[in-house]
Amino acid sequence: MTAPVAYPAFAPGTKILLGVSGGIAAYKACELTRRLKEFGCQVRVVLTENAERFVSATTFHALSGEAVRTSLWDTHAEAAMGHIELARWADWLLIAPASANTIAKLALGSADDLLSTLALATNAQLVLAPAMNQQMFAHAAVQSNLAQLVQRGAIVLGPGIGAQACGDSGAGRMLEAAEIISELTNHANDANELRALCGKVVVITAGPTYEDLDPVRYLGNRSSGKMGFAIAEVAARAGALVNLIAGPCMLKTPNGVARIDVRDARSMHAQAISAAPNADLFIAAAAVADYRPAVQSLQKIKKSTDESMLALVKNPDIIADVCTLLAARATRPLLVGFAAETETVLENARAKRLRKGLDFIAANHVGPGKGMEAEGNALVLIGTNTEIDLGYADKATLAKRLLAALIPHLTH
Ligand code: PMT
Repeated sequence: MTAPVAYPAFAPGTKILLGVSGGIAAYKACELTRRLKEFGCQVRVVLTENAERFVSATTFHALSGEAVRTSLWDTHAEAAMGHIELARWADWLLIAPASANTIAKLALGSADDLLSTLALATNAQLVLAPAMNQQMFAHAAVQSNLAQLVQRGAIVLGPGIGAQACGDSGAGRMLEAAEIISELTNHANDANELRALCGKVVVITAGPTYEDLDPVRYLGNRSSGKMGFAIAEVAARAGALVNLIAGPCMLKTPNGVARIDVRDARSMHAQAISAAPNADLFIAAAAVADYRPAVQSLQKIKKSTDESMLALVKNPDIIADVCTLLAARATRPLLVGFAAETETVLENARAKRLRKGLDFIAANHVGPGKGMEAEGNALVLIGTNTEIDLGYADKATLAKRLLAALIPHLTH
């Protein structure tokens, strides 16, 4: 679980402490320094000993217009405790490239050089742009180190996927300077717009459920999880403590999100009932199977007749049960469902909201280019006395609009 963070703005004048660690991608940090300066940021650069083997301090001095630090043992700077002053100065500590070694040191909390010491001594938001060989990046040790840092509130940007300097191809390239700046801007903007979510507990269900028939077959649906994951990502960026209860889907867990994987409606129900009482906001974006096979065969069902009947039994209604469980509480989360409809969308959604006891329901029309599987969607948020058309957009944009519309209804 990530710690609540209050992101600093990312705007002209922002103070960026740029840590450069050893790797061929260090050359991209030169372009990054230049672009950050053009953007209006103040940039001070710290090089690790290995970074200096790739690019010299003189280059960064020329590009940043500031003295470059390379060692804890700089007598002149350290006469005035320069590393502490630098740690306090920064709004963001951006490490690009972040090598496997630097990531490991940060995860461990070691302080054996200037950059790792600064990472411990600063309150600045830590951002890492990893760069390494794809095999190294995939290694369990690197993944576990990154996961630890994300849990402590770090933002990880990238890496990009593609051809690498070593001749390999895969995930490990450092993002380009323009991509890093755009990601930082997104993080800061989301956080500012949605800052009321900082520290709030948000529980989200997402994706489909699979109801097993036998060891090889199941009943499922076309939900990709993209809508629910987008909401989780945007809420986490804003500093919310996000629990994402995910049905079977292949999506990457967004940074800073605690994910619980489930397979069927009953396991999603159990996780939702356990998480909901601690939530400030509960959003049910999952497409839950209303029915499951009455019998789950332990062996593969054999083809024997030309026709076959499948007996189904009702699954629990997760969000309705959450509403019932919390109805009598003095303080309860804001309860938001989704309605996926193919016809008479608004009428069906309004009725569903009342039937389930929800504060709000987000109605979406499932069809070509929107709703399930698609990158885009169109939502109308329906409450007791209000209906807000959130429009058609990509799911990340809609997630932002949805959360912004819900914020005024959170009990503070
Ligand atoms: O995952 P994507 O591909 O991005 O697609 C997103 C989406 C279309 C799945 C999503 O936007 C959406 O509409 N999710 C709800 C889909 C759905 O199952 O709607 P429903 O009308 O059947 O259910 C209404 C509400 O009750 C939903 O909040 C659902 O999570 C909840 N429910 C339904 C059945 C059940 N047994 N338990 C529930 O909690």
